[in-house]
Amino acid sequence: LYEFTFKLDESSKEPLYLQLYKFIKNEIESKNFIVGSKLPSVRNMATFLGLSRTTIEKAYHLLMVEGYVDSKPRSGLFITSIQEPLLSSLQKQRPSFKEKVLKETVNYDFRYGSLNFDKSFVSKWRKSSNESLDLFKNDILTYGDSKGEIRLRIQIAQYLKLSRGVSCQPDQIILGAGTQYLLSQICQMLLKEGDSIAMEEPGYDGARAVFQNHHLNIVPIQLDQDGINTKKLKKFNGNLVYLTPSHQFPYGMVLPIKKRLELLKWAAESNRLIIEDDYDGELRYHGKTIPSLQGLDQHGKVIYIGTFSKALLPSIRISYMVLPEHLLEVYQQKFELYDSSVSKIHQFTLFRLMRDGYWERHLRKIRTVYKRKHNELLSTIKMIMGDKVQILGKDAGLHIIIKVNGRSEEELIQSANSHGIKIYPTSKY
Ligand SMILES: Cc1ncc(COP(=O)(O)O)c(C=O)c1O
Repeated sequence: LYEFTFKLDESSKEPLYLQLYKFIKNEIESKNFIVGSKLPSVRNMATFLGLSRTTIEKAYHLLMVEGYVDSKPRSGLFITSIQEPLLSSLQKQRPSFKEKVLKETVNYDFRYGSLNFDKSFVSKWRKSSNESLDLFKNDILTYGDSKGEIRLRIQIAQYLKLSRGVSCQPDQIILGAGTQYLLSQICQMLLKEGDSIAMEEPGYDGARAVFQNHHLNIVPIQLDQDGINTKKLKKFNGNLVYLTPSHQFPYGMVLPIKKRLELLKWAAESNRLIIEDDYDGELRYHGKTIPSLQGLDQHGKVIYIGTFSKALLPSIRISYMVLPEHLLEVYQQKFELYDSSVSKIHQFTLFRLMRDGYWERHLRKIRTVYKRKHNELLSTIKMIMGDKVQILGKDAGLHIIIKVNGRSEEELIQSANSHGIKIYPTSKY
């Protein structure tokens, strides 16, 4: 119904049903309505627009007679695809946004961040969500704990300890609807306009956008083969650094233990804080897992951030940060009056999946699936492209980078595109 925000001209001599008919016709012709979608029932439309049913019926009748909509018995009216003669009068019009999107044929889309479709997970989530609505029927009538539901935070604390070596109490965990939201909270707690923050270069553009919006002075630190250049970082004179040590984004290297300890020593001695973004730490396929910086830290110098977006689903928007104890008071003061940004219903749903062991099983399963895909991709690239390309950032996560000598990024993207393959640039990072 919200597509029908059209204005009636009460003063016009044109009857209302004609105005409505023309409006819908025009929307269909401009392809603003998707073919096959259903028109609202006469009754709903009449109530929504405050018109009589007869007016709606007359408008619908005209649309039907002219073939813009089709009637299906006992279901309603559906938008039909427009025939050529009708379309010819429209040729001069600009293609609509939807049309432009639908036009590109993409056979393979290597878009970063989309996940493997898992039917059994979807039904599990649906079941847990339905059950949660019943079980927590009174809880969902109220706002929740502003840091996130304690039940879920207990589960997350246990999980982090066992699988990521993060040591924390549930009260140090704060849930947020996305890493950017949490980064923004950190900025509000610890920095003011004009303060400096260091980050890897290249680095996560989503984090950079947050820092820019907080009007921070972003200090880029170059990478070595094995992650951030610690010598350069030590010259940074701000207090906060944002890092992706487990799987550098986007290059994919793992920060070795020696460098981790070096960084922690630096942070402790010079009183700096490190934000550790462990966005896809669950997805390591080869080699041993290195403990998180947070787990190695003895002096409360690390703010750990994790997300359910890579190993579960990006669309549920559940991420979390683990604050060192000495920051809990600051957090409390700053955000005492804030409500949680994460859906309580999703939190209950996830809580039940974690408590019942499903999350663990799910992790094992997707690790196998992604590892297989990852290996397949690598061996295919090697087989076809041989040593013409260099592969970066393998062994973990949901993406790899291919370096092709002598060809520009743009050229490669366009060339792939002309074969129906979408690949993505790294320059924006
Ligand atoms: C480095 C990094 N951190 C965090 C995220 C996103 O996390 P969330 O879905 O929790 O906002 C991404 C996603 O692309 C990422 O690349």
